[in-house]
Amino acid sequence: MRHFLTLKDYTKEEILEILNLAFKIKKELKSGDMKPYMKQKTLGMIFEKSSTRTRVSFETGIYQLGGVGLFLSSNDIQLGRGEPVKDTARVITRMVDMVMIRNDSQRELEEFASYSNVPVINALTDEFHPVQLMADLMTMIEHGKENPVIAYVGDGNNMTHSWLMLSAKLGFELRVATPKGYEVDTKISNQALEFAKLSGAKITFTNNPKEAVKNATVVTTDTWVSMGQEEEKANRIKDFDGFIVDTNLMALAEEKAIFLHCLPAYRGLEVSEEVLEGKQSVIFDEAENRLHAQKAIMVWLDEHR
Ligand code: CP
Ligand code: NVA
Repeated sequence: MRHFLTLKDYTKEEILEILNLAFKIKKELKSGDMKPYMKQKTLGMIFEKSSTRTRVSFETGIYQLGGVGLFLSSNDIQLGRGEPVKDTARVITRMVDMVMIRNDSQRELEEFASYSNVPVINALTDEFHPVQLMADLMTMIEHGKENPVIAYVGDGNNMTHSWLMLSAKLGFELRVATPKGYEVDTKISNQALEFAKLSGAKITFTNNPKEAVKNATVVTTDTWVSMGQEEEKANRIKDFDGFIVDTNLMALAEEKAIFLHCLPAYRGLEVSEEVLEGKQSVIFDEAENRLHAQKAIMVWLDEHR
């Protein structure tokens, strides 16, 4: 049995297998040929944090696959009142066929998975957001960026760590520009650099957004204030001065570069209104691909039990 906790655990071949499955499932849906790959299966959906895209895409996705999703907010289940993770895992996973979790701690997610009888999917932790990256990969390919040169501009957070893993596994060029003091976790970047040696990925780090974006074919960013960092907002806005992805910065990228953002986006902070709404922005294709990519992840995990 496999879990989907981080792309670190997946080979290039497996990532591409899931990607191809996602394209197939998307095509089937668009042509009205929805196949019940997970008939009568249940997906437990544990949320300790807010969500729009992840909740809607998983819940719709499992339904389209012939199953049903159970929305389990930590405000409503006993986990939120202190029931241990290991007890929650052993109870829920005796009843459902798969679980997705959005929580703070990657360590706690891994603990849950270690007690689980069924595949567990990371739907965002403080360290990684791997399901988002599968949608981002689909979107890049749909827009002709099979061999992208990716510039990530902003906070060294769960999205950056996930970009590092995707690029390192698939052999992409990734340039990460973060302000001083907001660099990525070096434990994760060192792991990514090890994978990069095998795949040939070129991964570089800078504190200069212009350097990262020059001639890039994909430009991406994420919020400067992730969930749980609300109290740091004022300081972060000061510290991220000069890191907005605006038309001046985008002008340095390749002419046909695309702009990605996992969303939610904060206009005027990490990205300008013009870029977000501009013709290079493919953010809503990216958001839609969450549905298709996650259906593929669920079907793949179900097939590998
Ligand atoms: N990108 C993303 O995961 O969005 P939500 O927080 O709305 O799920
Ligand atoms: N880095 C953001 C991503 C939201 C989808 C957060 O963790 O809040």
